[in-house]
Amino acid sequence: MLPFAELHLHLEGTLEPELVLTLAERNRIALPYRDADDLRSHYTYGCLQDFLDLYYANMQVLRTESDFAELTDAYLARAAAAGVVRAEVFCDLQAHTARGVPAPVVLAGIADALATSGVDHGVSSGLILTFLRHLPAADAELAYDQALATGVELLGVGLCSSEVGFPAAPFADLFARARADGLHTVAHAGEEGGPDSVWDVLEHLAVERIDHGINAMDDPDLVRHLAERGIPLTVCPLSNVSLHAVASLADHPLPAMLEAGLKVSINSDDPAYFGGYLGENLAAVQAEFGLDAAQLATLSANSIEASFLPQADKLRLLSLH
Ligand code: HPA
Ligand code: ZN
Repeated sequence: MLPFAELHLHLEGTLEPELVLTLAERNRIALPYRDADDLRSHYTYGCLQDFLDLYYANMQVLRTESDFAELTDAYLARAAAAGVVRAEVFCDLQAHTARGVPAPVVLAGIADALATSGVDHGVSSGLILTFLRHLPAADAELAYDQALATGVELLGVGLCSSEVGFPAAPFADLFARARADGLHTVAHAGEEGGPDSVWDVLEHLAVERIDHGINAMDDPDLVRHLAERGIPLTVCPLSNVSLHAVASLADHPLPAMLEAGLKVSINSDDPAYFGGYLGENLAAVQAEFGLDAAQLATLSANSIEASFLPQADKLRLLSLH
């Protein structure tokens, strides 16, 4: 099995319907669903916001440190089975503190599972704190302070949630601060927004990776810029189909992105909501585009190179090809 790094994964998006119901019962939260299939029947979305509404609603079942540890561990087990050897995972801390779950509960639970990911699953890991761009930058800054106060080690910071209508500039100072603190930086862009949205996060946040970025393909100057600088794009094919970022998988720009020499990797985004983990995403693009062994090896190598692993670890993983 080729080794992959998963670089675009929201831990909250790995909350499977069965676990939603188990945690709801454990935490005595009433939900309006008969069973897991009933909940799953709501998993069709007209747009990104439809998905986000359900994603935030389901999160209310996550209450205790062990809930977060269990969620994280279940993801790591699934990821390992698909060939993931490195996972740089996102946590939407503000979505939890806003409903009264303290930052130390969230981050200690996640950190607990990540601390043993290598031993338990053969997956090295890092945690990226993703700020919600539909909330004020002051709220993100508060979340950053709360996260630092827990003492839990962060790999980086990111930006996600609703894209259109929420510019990056207000977050510039916070991203500069995180960079000065030695953290890596990523941002969602070019998923529901166009190329301008990708330029926006490059200009204002100077991010090292773009999450999604598929709509960059509409701007040849931007494609050249991304290719020349080797700025990685973390692409999530099944997410893009589910959220209608593309009309169908056949219309996905993945082959054109590879052709343009962009450093694209395949990721699962919110696998419990979009039809599968890394393995299902890889199988879907292989079936649709008939990727050959060399293209698959490129996707594997891109994911390792685009990770925030130390150079020596990258070389060791690349030598497994
Ligand atoms: N886009 C933006 N925000 C998100 C996503 C996404 O695909 N998934 C979870 N938060
Ligand atoms: Zn995402």
